[in-house]
Formats: sequence, structure tokens, C-alpha cells
Amino acid sequence: MKIQEKIELLRRELEQHNYNYYVLSQPTISDFEFDTKLRELQELESAHPEFFDPNSPTQRVGSDISDGFRQVTHVYPMLSLGNTYSEGEVADFYERVRKALNEDFELVCELKYDGTSISLTYENGSLLRAVTRGDGEKGDDVTANVKTIRSVPLRLHGNFPVLFEIRGEILMPWTVFDDLNKEREAQEESLFANPRNAASGTLKLQNPSIVASRKLDTYLYYLLGKKLPADKHYDNLMAAKSWGFKISDAMKVCRSLPEVFDFIKYWDEERKNLPVATDGIVIKVNSLIQQKNLGFTAKSPRWAIAYKFQAEKALTRLNSVSFQVGRTGAVTPVANLDPVQLSGTTVKRASLHNADIIESLDLHIGDMVYVEKGGEIIPKITAVDLDSRVLVGEKVQFIKNCPECGTPLVRFEGEAAHYCPNDNACPPQIKGKMEHFVSRKAMNIDGLGSETINLLYENKLLSNVADIYELKVADLARLERLGNKSAMNIRTSCEKSKNVPFERVIFALGIRFVGETVAKKLAGAFKNIEVLESATYEELIAVDEIGDRIAQSVLKFFADERNIRLIERLKSYGLQMALSEEQMRNAGDSLAGLSIVISGTFNKHSRDEYKALIERHGGKNTGSVSSKTSFILAGENMGPEKLKKAEKLGVKLVNEKEFLVMIGESENQQQAFTGTLF
Ligand code: IVH
Repeated sequence: MKIQEKIELLRRELEQHNYNYYVLSQPTISDFEFDTKLRELQELESAHPEFFDPNSPTQRVGSDISDGFRQVTHVYPMLSLGNTYSEGEVADFYERVRKALNEDFELVCELKYDGTSISLTYENGSLLRAVTRGDGEKGDDVTANVKTIRSVPLRLHGNFPVLFEIRGEILMPWTVFDDLNKEREAQEESLFANPRNAASGTLKLQNPSIVASRKLDTYLYYLLGKKLPADKHYDNLMAAKSWGFKISDAMKVCRSLPEVFDFIKYWDEERKNLPVATDGIVIKVNSLIQQKNLGFTAKSPRWAIAYKFQAEKALTRLNSVSFQVGRTGAVTPVANLDPVQLSGTTVKRASLHNADIIESLDLHIGDMVYVEKGGEIIPKITAVDLDSRVLVGEKVQFIKNCPECGTPLVRFEGEAAHYCPNDNACPPQIKGKMEHFVSRKAMNIDGLGSETINLLYENKLLSNVADIYELKVADLARLERLGNKSAMNIRTSCEKSKNVPFERVIFALGIRFVGETVAKKLAGAFKNIEVLESATYEELIAVDEIGDRIAQSVLKFFADERNIRLIERLKSYGLQMALSEEQMRNAGDSLAGLSIVISGTFNKHSRDEYKALIERHGGKNTGSVSSKTSFILAGENMGPEKLKKAEKLGVKLVNEKEFLVMIGESENQQQAFTGTLF
């Protein structure tokens, strides 16, 4: 078979598997088989750039940094819908339509997906561009990002119009949203308030490979174009489904108002079981001719309306505000409320997030407040009922000193949170660090829940994480609530934790901003604790995904003598303080024995960072080109002298992207080849 045919065949096969997995949710091959095929295609494509196709499945993994977004004018403006919260107004809408049409009509009821809207244009069955709503007239061209969304077909099958537009919603599934926020919390990054914000924020990222990792999804609900397959909205969506688009099954043609209300009632309950957020029902006139006859107002179509579900909220009294100190010293204000029922659970506490939010709510003790369960796990206070404020209680102020140790709080520039800086002596910080250390994704030590840690701390058996390894069964068993068996279990689990791999030990140390992913990167880059301890700022930021904030935090951690002593102790107990031999083999010294010249300017790292990267991967950076030069790492505007010499000596040029692939720092590679550690 010819190379080009092989490439095409693999592309078709992978497209089909993407469709089976992301649209039909019925995969027919394993992830591993998929990744193997994708890698094969990637290799063929990079060896044969002449067969490049911007819509190849390999392009979904996201390419390099793109800068800014091009503004595109919508062919058809992206209007919004008139919306209502009342069934009475739905009935009014029905009446208006009935009177205006004065003939039989059908309505289509659909779910109102709560994401960020997108317009996709296809030409000859290929995705041409993806544009955000923007101001309705013009939006951002986010094609590169949208291509990473697996349920968006890059090429269609069947009998589609030559040119058309399809609109829909981009969504972040709840599970992805929860994981993302957990990860952001661990890294002390600000949390997304709900999946909608997370989806639109993700779509605006400048790096499509991060977008790819966020596992966005889509539902399409509106087909536009000069030549559409049918004259009914429902049939057009069914046709679009047959071309490969993800169209919701929660769609119904209704011929009467009671049918519409049944749909609303059913989905108001059933939507709680959906993997993505919905915030209402959209009701549309089915016939396109009737739609045309009804027309538009300045802002929205007369042939459709959105019925919004009530956000679940409750009104209750604010009794007090307490301030909690977390393991990182971040102080979180928590509202204590009169217990109230909300979505099936009793709510007694709600998060107030930070000082700015307290200020903007103008909270006073005794206020009647609205609590809502948004996307977040912890309910939040969304408003104060000012009408019921009779006796004004004390205004809620953010505290100045740590409620646990009295140390004055600090607020770092650009951050919303207040911190207690007394990280080595403030009790909840010490206990929090221990809880983090023993947690499942860190050292995974069983039997040491927060209560036990508290007990051990109070009894002076634990004062830092290293003490955990000095715990004696007899000491443990003597404590109330802990029997001999539990004590033995804790000891066994501590022993087992000595095999926990290096990257998890780094994570367990609880260095600010070093979450699981960053810990992995650090372990992969520096290989053992001694090298990591002495890493310079330049060496740290040369590591993929590590920027100024993390680098500063790592430097600060290792600059503290107490931390160095702690690590020495952990080392002496036998914890893994280096990559295992197997990990070393996998990580590989990819540039061992190579002599590399750097020339030109680069996008991803500075020249100094590339120098550090070469050395870290076992290579040698040399200044001038000679016959001994293995290759030139060639950036933009490479010096003409070096170029001439390289040509003369036949020295290979390797561009930035190729180089990053060589050292395993290409984001493409990490996304595509799941299963490898670094
Ligand atoms: S139809 C001209 N259908 O809700 C009307 N919109 O305020 C085109 N939305 O901007 C929109 N689910 O982002 C339509 N099934 C659905 C929808 C839906 C969510 C969003 C969309 C639109 C907004 C309307």
C-alpha cells in the first residue's frame, strides 16, 4: 500500500473510533489500540509532511501555542433566546405563535444546555472554522481549540450540504469539572464557579493541548445554511446526527401545550442524572417556513423561547462566620447558618470564599441570606435579603490574625486569599500537612484519618510528618479509641508507604503549588531529591508546565533548613527519594552523548533554558558548529554563519518542536501517548 493510502486509511479508521467513542459512547477498540494507531499515524505524518491535513485526527491533540484569536463576523448573527421562569409565560408564547400562524404547528422541545455557544462551519464535509458567540455579531475564531473536542466531527459522512453552519453548546462534563477544580485547589489556583465558566475559560486558552486535556463535550442544536436537507428543524437535526454530529436524544416533537409541560416536568427531575449541566428547556417551532413567517425581534427569534429551571436556593439566617485555616495556611471564611433544606440535603454551612466576596455581599450577622447549590459541592451565599434586615447585626469583617496561632495574616499581591504565614508552627497547618502526607494520592497510609492525627498531635506523638515513621505500636495502642489491631495496621501501612514512588513523595511534601502533575514533572526532570534540592530558578522554569510561581515556591521550600532536615529524616527511614531504575529507563537520557549547538530565537523556552534542558537530558551544549556537532537546535532567525557551516559539514538542523518531542516535552506527545509517566 502506498504511504498516502495508509495515512488516509488510518485517518478514516481513527475518525470512526472517535465517533464510536465520543458521539455514540460505544467504543469498539481499547484506548491502548487507539493510541497505538494514533501514534502510527503521527509518525507517518511527521515523516511525510507533504500529506498534512489540518483535519487529521492527530490534530485533535492540540498543537503549539497560538497567539490571540482572530475575530470573525458571523454570517447569521448569533442571537439569544427570550427566556422565562414561568409556565404561564410558556403558555403565552404558545398563544402568540398560534395566533400569528393561524394554522397547525408543531413545537420541538429540547434541553437547554448550560455551556458556551459555538458556531461550526463545514465546507465539503470538513470543519472549516469554529467561532464563539462573542457579541453576537463577531466572535473569536477558536478552531484550533474546538478541533481537540472529540465529539466535534472534523469530517462528515453521508449526504451533507456543501456549505452550512451548525450551532450548539460546548460543555464541560461534571466529572471533568470536579476533577479540574480539585486539581486547581491542590495547586491553589482559583476555582471555576461552574462548568459553564470552566468550558468558556478553556475555549479561550491559548494552548490547544491544554484544551485537549480538559475533555470538553458538545451538543449541537441549530442547523443553518442556504440548502438544508429538510424543511423541519427536527428532521434537520436528525440528518445532522447521521453526518456524525452529537445531537441530544432528549428532544421531542410536541403538538400541544400539555405535551410541552410534560417534557418540562420530566426533565426538571431527570436532568439531575445527566453528565452535563442544563438550565432549562428550549421550545422551538418545528417548521422552517413557519419560523421564517414568525421572524425575529431585535434580540431574539419569535419562534422560540427558553424556559429556565429554578436554581435551587433557600433562604436562611446567618448566625456567625468562622475562619478555617487549611494546610497551606489559606484562611477560608465559612458561614454558619440556621439549618435549611436544599436539594435533598440539610445545609448548615456555606462557603464565603474570600474577603472580596464578603465585602461585595455587605454581610451582617443575623441577615437572611440566600444559599444556592451551584456547580460547587459546597453551597454558597448568593445574596442578602435586604428587605428582612430589621435589626442590623455586626458587619462581617475578615479577620486580621490567624484564629489558630494569632500570627498576623498576609495577602499576596494578585491573590484573593489571606494566609497565615506561620507554616511550621500553626497547628491546623501542621495537621493539614500530615493529612495531606498520608492521603491516598500521596503516601497512602491507612488508619491515619484527621481525628487520629489530631489525637496523636495532641498527645505529642506527632509534630511533623517524619514523626509518622517513628510511631511505635505500643504508643499507638495506648491511645483511647485505637486498639492493638489498628495500631498494627498503621505501622504496616507506614512500612508499605516506603515503596511509594518518588513523584508521590514530592507531592506528599506539600510544597505550595506542587500538585500531582507538577510533582511528576519535577521527579521526571530532576530524578532525585539532591538534584531537585539544588535546582536553580532557570533549571526549574525550564521544566514543562513550571513557571515563575511554582519555581519560587520550590526554591523557598528547599531554602528552609527545617525542610532539608525533614527530608534527611524521611530519607533515613527509607522513603523513595529518587526515580526507580525502571522509571529511569523509561525517562531515558534521550540526548546522552550528543553535542548540540543552539542558534536563533525560540518560542517555548529561552536559550538558557534550552541549555539547561540539553544538560538535563544527558547532552552537551557547545558554542560553535564543528564536524563533532550532532545537530543544531535551530530557532527562528538562525545566524547565517552557523547555517552556512552546518550546510557545509552536513550537520542536521532540529527545530524547536522536533527537539521538544525528542526530550519528551512535547505536549502533543503527552496527550497522545497516555500511559507513559513523563
Ligand atoms: S437555540 C436563535 N437550543 O441558550 C436561537 N439554544 O439564550 C438559537 N442553548 O445562546 C439558540 N441549549 O447558547 C438553542 N437546545 C438549545 C440550546 C440553546 C442551550 C443556549 C444557546 C443560546 C442560549 C439562548
